[in-house]
Amino acid sequence: MKIYVPRDSAAKALGADAVAVALQVEADKRGLEIELIRTGTRGMIWLEPLVEVDRGTGREGFGPVAPSDVPALLDGTLAGLGPVEEIPFFARQTRLTFARCGLIDPLNLTEYEAHGGLAGLRRALGLSGEAIVDEVKLSGLRGRGGAGFPTGIKWDTVRMAKADRKYIVCNADEGDSGTFADRMIIEGDPFCLIEGMIIAGLGTGATKGFVYLRSEYPDAIAVMGEAIEIAYRAGVLGGDVLGSGSAFDLEVRVGAGAYVCGEETSLLNSLEGKRGVVRAKPPLPALEGAFGHPTVVNNVLSLATVPVIFEKGAAAYADFGMGRSKGTMPIQIAGNVKYGGLFETAFGLPLGDLVNEIAGGTASGRPVKAVQVGGPLGAYFAPSQFDTPFGYEEFDGAGGLIGHAGIVVFDDSADMLKMARFAMEFCAVESCGKCTPCRIGAVRGVETIDRIAQGDAAAVPLLTDLCETMKEGSLCALGGFTPYPVMSALTLFPDDFAATKEAAE
Ligand code: NAI
Ligand code: SF4
Repeated sequence: MKIYVPRDSAAKALGADAVAVALQVEADKRGLEIELIRTGTRGMIWLEPLVEVDRGTGREGFGPVAPSDVPALLDGTLAGLGPVEEIPFFARQTRLTFARCGLIDPLNLTEYEAHGGLAGLRRALGLSGEAIVDEVKLSGLRGRGGAGFPTGIKWDTVRMAKADRKYIVCNADEGDSGTFADRMIIEGDPFCLIEGMIIAGLGTGATKGFVYLRSEYPDAIAVMGEAIEIAYRAGVLGGDVLGSGSAFDLEVRVGAGAYVCGEETSLLNSLEGKRGVVRAKPPLPALEGAFGHPTVVNNVLSLATVPVIFEKGAAAYADFGMGRSKGTMPIQIAGNVKYGGLFETAFGLPLGDLVNEIAGGTASGRPVKAVQVGGPLGAYFAPSQFDTPFGYEEFDGAGGLIGHAGIVVFDDSADMLKMARFAMEFCAVESCGKCTPCRIGAVRGVETIDRIAQGDAAAVPLLTDLCETMKEGSLCALGGFTPYPVMSALTLFPDDFAATKEAAE
């Protein structure tokens, strides 16, 4: 009997390790042979610890499982969920980037290959750098970290740059509140990220990569480190990638806990051992990045999606999605919802379907008031905007951004003035201090919102003006995007800004 128990940190936080121990102890007590396999998560967090049992007839899911459920689970009397692939939340997904996550032991390279792993890299090894970059361009892949810049064009800039050394840097500093896809793929399918980074190296002429991983993710750091060691031993990494003669080296660099280090230039400073302060652009990192050399800086999801593009072909990938938003997006559903977790789907699903159907509405049972999309710098959306399709341009057109595709749901008890204040406070705390609109503006923003809270109507136009200055004058997205949550809260929920109401009367 094979039993699959997740080792993902969300599942562990909900007791997966204790369930794994209980399973082994109970099996030993009964003299029962079990093969206990630790996997990543399937991403349905409300069902964790989600245990899957294969008695030779396919995998059946059980969850959430407590250690006290283990005897019944082994007896075969515990009520199950059926095959995980048939649970509606899972069945509605198109899993391309996350195809193997939760399915296999993340550190079993043989299983990785058996499920399509390394096929993309083998194909890329037969192509020129230019052909590799063209394939990525054709796929329509855009930066999954938030900015949505076309990945193929970024790679081409690095490919064309003349330099004796180039780097691939993976941004795994996932700092957005309500986002966890980078962590999940690293903990659940790290070889996929390694494979994507090697293909990026082949395409651009870079032979060294860094994964810049946030210190708050100890499990991901451990899994990534082990996966790199295994990949070296198997000849996937090193001086002779899969016997091709091409070289690629990879190491993990751990961040020190600053939100702004998710911004690429600040990340590069931190990677080089300097203080994590934003650098002015130009020069673009693609031309002068890590240690002054041309560097691809891509988010985890962008790089982890590259193998499937090469495995299935760029055209097959680009068939999913809509308009300029091609392929699939691993959407992270969090906040006050019935069903939270990771939902990978083709671009185009309306926001309301995600919130009401997929996430099942609020966990509190109260009406949805607002949804913040794209992390702490993302705009709030009201139910009146729920027909907005999930896509880069569509969200931009609605005054927001999809960012790293985290959505956080709030019910009608949320006080949007407090949420706007939180955005300014967050910016003030996390500001790197390099430019004035952000460094001083965020502090003044908190004070101005406090004045509004105390009924000072004159402070409302001041807040609008300040947001305009921060948006236009800040050097990076932290100061530049903080006005999105603030202004969307102010315009969509004027009643929560008492002074606005008084001023209008
Ligand atoms: P940006 O728009 O300045 O740049 C986008 C990317 O394209 C950068 O990597 C830039 O170097 C590159 N680029 C631009 N022109 C290029 C060219 N001609 N050739 C090659 N590369 C080129 O955006 P930025 O400031 O890097 O990121 C902002 C985004 O980050 C926001 O949308 C926000 O949602 C997101 N974000 C994500 C976080 C996370 O946790 N994932 C945290 C904070 C922000
Ligand atoms: Fe630093 Fe804020 Fe300016 Fe960004 S916007 S460079 S975080 S001070």
